[in-house]
Amino acid sequence: MIAFDPLSTDERVRLVDLHPKLGDLQQEAIAGLRSSQKALPCKYFYDALGARLFEAITELPEYYPTRTELGIMSQAVHEMADAIGAHATLVEFGSGVGLKTQKLLDALIEPSGCVLIEISRAALEASARQLADRYTDLEVIGVCADYTQALRLPRPRRPSARTVAFFPGSTIGNFTDEEAVRFLGRVAELVGQGGGLLVGIDRKKDTKVIEDAYNDSLGVTAAFNLNILSRLNQIGANFDLTHFRHHAPYLEREGRIEMRLISEREQRVCIGDAEIALSEGEHIVTEHSHKYDLGQFEEMARAAGFRLTKQWSDERDWFSVCLLEVD
Ligand code: AVJ
Repeated sequence: MIAFDPLSTDERVRLVDLHPKLGDLQQEAIAGLRSSQKALPCKYFYDALGARLFEAITELPEYYPTRTELGIMSQAVHEMADAIGAHATLVEFGSGVGLKTQKLLDALIEPSGCVLIEISRAALEASARQLADRYTDLEVIGVCADYTQALRLPRPRRPSARTVAFFPGSTIGNFTDEEAVRFLGRVAELVGQGGGLLVGIDRKKDTKVIEDAYNDSLGVTAAFNLNILSRLNQIGANFDLTHFRHHAPYLEREGRIEMRLISEREQRVCIGDAEIALSEGEHIVTEHSHKYDLGQFEEMARAAGFRLTKQWSDERDWFSVCLLEVD
């Protein structure tokens, strides 16, 4: 195996700012609350408090996805690294310097570089630096961009055998099936001929197991869900959080968890200049979390120009990490 020449310090971290358009939270919230099925965009869960509440969720006994996926990674990461091959460029969506990425980077054979795509410049700078500090022989390229939009990847300086993206966490489940196929199609274009995507998906399973994971007994998921209203209150809304209740049913036919905030009474809420009326029992949808069976996911991948070439699961088949490859 050819070892790479060492990189100088200023060659090691690079930032490319594509100046992503940041959504206006209040405008988007008003639009969502005015549609016939009231909804709020789930990306707004993750302010500083929301990110910490999600961290807490991942430690709940009922919330199986994170620990199951991590178990699969621990078990199979060397097989994954072999399947990806030497001298790959790894692409990460979202700031992601999480445990799963570290496991993968620790196992990859002489990766030629790591590209982080993240919409928040501050988060991107922090993660890029953190990654470069941890992997002192890795070129890190931060791209400040919205990964749900089309974009072109900068190339690492070292020769790259192929580009492989990593999208863990079953975050893909937040998209509708149509959006997921569109996203996969853009990733296929991004990684190009011979490229790949390692993606975590939460599998269909017993309804009670799924519902317990999103309706935990400590109420952490309820706090995480309600936090979106408290966030709106900081930018000019007047939600009374005591008049809303969290509930997350699994919708069998749609194959998804629906995170809901149920209005416990008839009420009016102001947000900026807008006034929203809610009836008693009416709900706001804050997030979808789709669960897949392998055949269905394979078909979605195929529709996007990928082939599902390898798949690793836990022994209960609750979660899968899939390798998709562009032919
Ligand atoms: C981070 C989007 C994968 O859908 O399971 C956890 C978010 N929402 N509990 C998921 C979440 C409620 C999580 N994802």
